[in-house]
Amino acid sequence: MDLIGLAASIAIALAAGVGITIFVTGGAGFIGSAVVRHLLRETKARVVNIDKLTYAANLDSLPGAVGHPRYAFAQACICEGPALRKQSAHR
Ligand SMILES: NC(=O)c1ccc[n+]([C@@H]2O[C@H](COP(=O)([O-])OP(=O)(O)OC[C@H]3O[C@@H](n4cnc5c(N)ncnc54)[C@H](O)[C@@H]3O)[C@@H](O)[C@H]2O)c1
Repeated sequence: MDLIGLAASIAIALAAGVGITIFVTGGAGFIGSAVVRHLLRETKARVVNIDKLTYAANLDSLPGAVGHPRYAFAQACICEGPALRKQSAHR
């Protein structure tokens, strides 16, 4: 495979989300939950939902995500650097 072919293959894999992890913040909220559902449905990416679970959160808006092999949830605040670094280190 030449360099252009390799670059094209990588671009296609990235577009499909193969082998990548996407962190969604606020994924239990109105917009974030739609993003999580879309990513699980339309890509092959692993999806990590990082949400503080405020009053606005609703985990019931993620049917099909819990137990999904490419989905993980972490209750954390995006303002807490160490907690976020821990999440990225474990994925
Ligand atoms: N049924 C509806 O039409 C409906 C319902 C809800 C919201 N809305 C609209 O959607 C828009 C807002 O949607 P949204 O998804 O941006 O907000 P949201 O308030 O719905 O969700 C925000 C999410 O982010 C999380 N969060 C907040 N602070 C955080 C922090 N520091 N760290 C980690 N997570 C944190 C919350 O727990 C929540 O799950 C508004 O315009 C609102 O009016 C519409």
